[in-house]
Amino acid sequence: MILVFGSINIDLVARVASIPRPGETVLSPAYETLFGGKGANQAVAAARVSLPRRVAIAACVGDDSFGRSARDNLARNGVVVDRVASVAEPTGCAFITVDERGENAITVGSGANASITEAAAQGFQVDAAAVAVFQMEVPFPASLTVARHVRAAGGCVIWNFAPPPPAFAARDLSDLLGATDIFVVNEHEALAAATLLGCETDGFRKAGSHLSGSGCLCVVTAGAQGAFAFHPDGQSERAEAEPIRPVDTTGAGDTFVGVLANGLDEAMPFTHALQRAVRAASLACLAHGAQGHANARATRMMIRLARSTGPQSPR
Ligand code: RIB
Repeated sequence: MILVFGSINIDLVARVASIPRPGETVLSPAYETLFGGKGANQAVAAARVSLPRRVAIAACVGDDSFGRSARDNLARNGVVVDRVASVAEPTGCAFITVDERGENAITVGSGANASITEAAAQGFQVDAAAVAVFQMEVPFPASLTVARHVRAAGGCVIWNFAPPPPAFAARDLSDLLGATDIFVVNEHEALAAATLLGCETDGFRKAGSHLSGSGCLCVVTAGAQGAFAFHPDGQSERAEAEPIRPVDTTGAGDTFVGVLANGLDEAMPFTHALQRAVRAASLACLAHGAQGHANARATRMMIRLARSTGPQSPR
């Protein structure tokens, strides 16, 4: 089973020629209201490639129409939503601008996501077969408590350090890494995390290798360059991205994490799980939005590709 402990948002997305600088206003002809939130995106990506009822999410939404539709959307995508609580705060909302190159800038109003506690994960059967997924859009102390619990039971913890909190202390990061099996970062997050641990570098490879020195496997996602995995024993490997022209990179990292979690849940060799996750993330960039219909199509394409090329079929 996979448990995603994390955020649920509604994404308000405007497409612009270029992302506004501080003090600048730009016009977009329209905006879209889409499903998002890193936790929700990861859960949906995992569920789309998993057997029924193998992926659950523990999260909070508001008692409002955004919250109800976000929960329904998760259930429609095969995510178990028993641990999604309704709270007094409004459902989290992300304000996203996407430019002509598919790059984005995101501001998240946390709302209900800030209300989650470790109690949200209660009742989830944690054992050596459990894979738990965390990110940084919900309170860190609650995530850390649940991650330690999963680790103590022999389960596998994947932690996506996104977005890196501005006031995160070195001690917090050490605690996080100490409770993590696989630490997933993009290039910027890798540098931020390595700097926090006292490694001054502007190269994500050195940062990733330094982070794996803490004892967990560090995966750095590097856009068109694919993903690089730095193992604690000093070995490293790379999975290449598909040669695509991105339409929208929003949620590509979340697709990566969700599909990687599924690979580990299905006991695939790590190298294969990594390649498959990179392929899924590449294909997710071909569609608008973090969980759009076309992303589901892209994920199905990815499964077909994995079946035809991978050393071990998903099923
Ligand atoms: O990773 C993309 C996600 O970040 C968006 O869906 C948005 O909700 C923010 O959480």
